[in-house]
Amino acid sequence: MTLTLIVLLGLGLCRCPWDQVQAGLPPKPSNWADPGPRVREGSPVTIWCQGSLQADSYSLYKDKRSKPLDTSIPEASSNKTRFLIQPMGSHCAGLYQCAYSTGDTLSERSKPLLLVVTGKGERRSPPHCRLLLRG
Ligand SMILES: *[C@@H]1O[C@H](CO)[C@@H](O)[C@H](O)[C@H]1NC(C)=O
Repeated sequence: MTLTLIVLLGLGLCRCPWDQVQAGLPPKPSNWADPGPRVREGSPVTIWCQGSLQADSYSLYKDKRSKPLDTSIPEASSNKTRFLIQPMGSHCAGLYQCAYSTGDTLSERSKPLLLVVTGKGERRSPPHCRLLLRG
């Protein structure tokens, strides 16, 4: 440990991970796919993330990357939000997790949701995964 970190800890000024563990992280959100996690190529799918009424924003993560794929501000007095993927394609298949922030605290990530693309659509999949609409 560096001297600076020791001093900061002593002063209680460091927002360190173990402080969050002690304070208790906000509960994990849950996420699910509507109409379901097996999506026909070219069809839309909505990923819902339900966390807390206190959540200011929700972030969607793909394949355990650290950078969110997208973020969404929930509607007032709602404890969930949605991310719309359209059209579904091979680039959108994978593991999705979400987390929410309340103030400057980020919750744990939800259990991974596996989206699978099925069938063959009429059009080729776009070269990247596109999220259309949020909120
Ligand atoms: C979110 O709200 C629904 C009702 O609208 C409730 O059933 C659910 O338990 C709430 N979940 C959380 C995590 O607050």
